[in-house]
Parts: sequence; C-alpha cells; structure tokens
Amino acid sequence: MKPGDIKKEFARPIYRNYKKIIKQARYTAHLRTARLIINALKKKQAKILDLGCGPGDSSSLFFEKGYRVTGIDLSQDLLKHAKKLSFQKLICQDIEKPLKVLKNHFDAAVMTGVMEYLDHPLKAFKQANNALKKGGYLGVTIPNKITKEREIGIHTYHQKDIEPLFKQAGFKIERKITFHGWYWITQNKTQIKYTAYLLKKE
Ligand SMILES: C[S@@+](CC[C@H](N)C(=O)[O-])C[C@H]1O[C@@H](n2cnc3c(N)ncnc32)[C@H](O)[C@@H]1O
Repeated sequence: MKPGDIKKEFARPIYRNYKKIIKQARYTAHLRTARLIINALKKKQAKILDLGCGPGDSSSLFFEKGYRVTGIDLSQDLLKHAKKLSFQKLICQDIEKPLKVLKNHFDAAVMTGVMEYLDHPLKAFKQANNALKKGGYLGVTIPNKITKEREIGIHTYHQKDIEPLFKQAGFKIERKITFHGWYWITQNKTQIKYTAYLLKKE
C-alpha cells in the first residue's frame, strides 16, 4: 500500500476505537510476539524499537517490564493515542525509508500487524537490522497466504518466499510460531493466520 493509502486507511473513524476492533478480531499477536522477545532478552533494561506501533498496544508488555521504547508509525491519527502511553520517543515516518534513529542501538525491535501493508518488506527488515545491536532480536508477524488478499487489500505471504528475505537482511531465524492472527470482521470473518518469527541479527 502507498504511504498515502496507509494514512487514509488508519484515519477511518472505525480506528478511533482500536481496542474494540482488536477484541472483535481476536488479535493477540501484539502480546504473543512481545513475549517471544521478552523471553529471549532475559534483561532488566532494554531498548526497544516498535515499528508500526500504531496506538501503542504492541509495546504494552515492554512498558510493564520498564523497557525504554521508541515507536515509529506513518499514521498521525494513531500516534495521537500512542502519545498517552509511556513511549520514550515517537517518530512519524515510513519504516521502508532510512529510520530517524541511532544505528546499532536497540536490543530488540518488534513489528506486529504491519507486514499486511508493506510493499517492500525487505527494505523494512534492513532498516530494523541497521537499528539493532549485533545479536539483537526482531519479532515480526507474517500473515500466511490467503486467496482473498486482493479483495481485502492486504499482502499475505508464503513462508518459503519470506524466509530468504530475513537472511538477505542479515537475520537468522531463532523461533517461529503459528496462531490465529485476526478476523476480517466485515468480510464474512475471513481468518488471517500469523506466523510470528523471532529473528536474531547476525
Ligand atoms: C494493524 S496496525 C498494528 C499496530 C500495532 N503494531 C499492533 O500490533 O497493535 C498497523 C500499523 O502499521 C502502520 N504502518 C503500515 N505501513 C507502515 C509504514 N510503511 N511505515 C510506518 N508505519 C506503517 C500503520 O500506520 C498502522 O499503525
């Protein structure tokens, strides 16, 4: 999706009640992926980068841990919600472009519910890799391939197509888990399944 279309999509009135949407869609990826990262980090203090943070739910478990979190998103509308949470810094930008953060700085990055909207995922993986310290983790959800993706207007992926991109971006796969991602609530409850990957910067 083009940046302008992403901004328009998340400016729709329906997203003003984001919590209600994620409840209806039975979306738990923000928690499950964060747990993968927290278990791998085993650290009292960590610097986290939330890519496509939206209203900020994807960082809620990091805040509980007292981690310092920087959030990045294209949508000013959703960032207004995120401003009420404990982010150390919020940046409005496209994550497929060079990130306005320090390089080799973060212990982990998270990207949940975002791959659906990216036209060039490799660019975003490379940006995440640049921002991470060596040995840092990236937790990312990949929506598994469905036939109706055009109808819904999102990108979905085969694992065999996406896994080589992780390697190209400088990551190795540490873990992967598959679970219910979300229901497309207005489209006959079409189910999107997720594979969440825990990747390590090599
Ligand atoms: C479904 S929301 C997920 C929000 C959050 N990560 C979560 O798990 O609750 C998708 C978010 O990705 C953001 N997004 C999509 N493409 C982006 C891009 N190229 N650059 C920055 N943010 C992007 C959207 O603006 C939106 O906030």
